Amino acid sequence: MKKIIQISRLEVGMYVESDDAASGKRSLKARLISGQDQIQQLKAAGLSQVTIDTEKGKDVPKKQAVVKAPKKPKPKPAGRKVPYREELKQARATRGVVSKALRGVMEDVALGGSMDKSKLDAAGKLITRSVFRNVDAMVGLTRIKEQDPYTATHCINVCVLVLAVALSEGINESDAEMLATAALLHDVGKTRVPLEVLNKPGRFEPHELAEMRKHTLHGEDILKEMPGVTDNILYIATQHHEMFDGTGYPHSLTGDEINRFGQMTAVADVYDALTSARVYKPAMPPHFALSLIYSNRDTEFRSDVVDLFVKSLGLYPVGSLVILDSGEVGVVCEPNPGNTREPKVGVVITRFKKRRPTPLVVDLADPHATEERKIVKVLDPSKYKIDVDKILKMTTG
Ligand SMILES: [Fe+2]
Repeated sequence: MKKIIQISRLEVGMYVESDDAASGKRSLKARLISGQDQIQQLKAAGLSQVTIDTEKGKDVPKKQAVVKAPKKPKPKPAGRKVPYREELKQARATRGVVSKALRGVMEDVALGGSMDKSKLDAAGKLITRSVFRNVDAMVGLTRIKEQDPYTATHCINVCVLVLAVALSEGINESDAEMLATAALLHDVGKTRVPLEVLNKPGRFEPHELAEMRKHTLHGEDILKEMPGVTDNILYIATQHHEMFDGTGYPHSLTGDEINRFGQMTAVADVYDALTSARVYKPAMPPHFALSLIYSNRDTEFRSDVVDLFVKSLGLYPVGSLVILDSGEVGVVCEPNPGNTREPKVGVVITRFKKRRPTPLVVDLADPHATEERKIVKVLDPSKYKIDVDKILKMTTG
């Protein structure tokens, strides 16, 4: 049987019947191919096809059926295993349990008692699990800024933000659990700061500031006495106010003298403080706080840590009030993972400047949306008399 085959399929043992009729190349004597050199000669002659006689020589090998392995479902990335809204309810409950545990531990320490590390480890585990299920849900809840003695809420917020950054860097779950415990304890030294200083509503006098700053060293003292304390726990407590350029305290460390987890905690700590209201200052909207931190890359904060932080929160963190190019005003109510510029927005003011009784949620990243919308600017909610938390509750349930 005669077959025309591509020259690339020609093998030793095949019988070439004639030259390539289709290409009109030079004539070729019929022969049995006995060596690779003959195949090379034919290729060099510019032939693209040849006719073979399968009764006088080898046939082309039949293509082996390729058995495709069944496609394994891709494992979902850490921090995005369950949908945002699904995790939100669990994350709220987790915050409640952790907050109670942490307040209890801080009060025990403040009264001179010993620290129940097992309670803290359990709390750290709970937060870590939630962050690994859906990091955006827990990060979204860092908007919660309750005032409480020994700032347990602040410690939880910082813990979540540090975990989010470490997750972006690829930390595994068991290391993250240890990090979570460490971050929950970063301000434990405040239990030894006199209450009149700790709870002072206004700005500190220089001597009060010095007293307050000692909490880093008190923290080290307290933690050193605790069994099972790792170096990371100590570093986070003592170094979370050190600044990359050496302007921090207590030891004015610079650059990589500061432990990486200490650097992450420094960024998270400043962000949570900036976005919290104080008697002497209003809360800074999250986007502005991020911009301020970003402008301090390579001065106060290490640039790659800042970049990871921005990536973790999104350029427009949940709760940001934004104006869209359509003229609509809304609240960022849900991030789109991997897309820091195009979150979901609950629109509360229409393009005709009318208030909507219920927010209209638009997904800026939706390629099938009837209208393409973009964020133009971030607004200050206090100037618009918009209750951001109320809008968030309405959009996320
Ligand atoms: Fe602190």
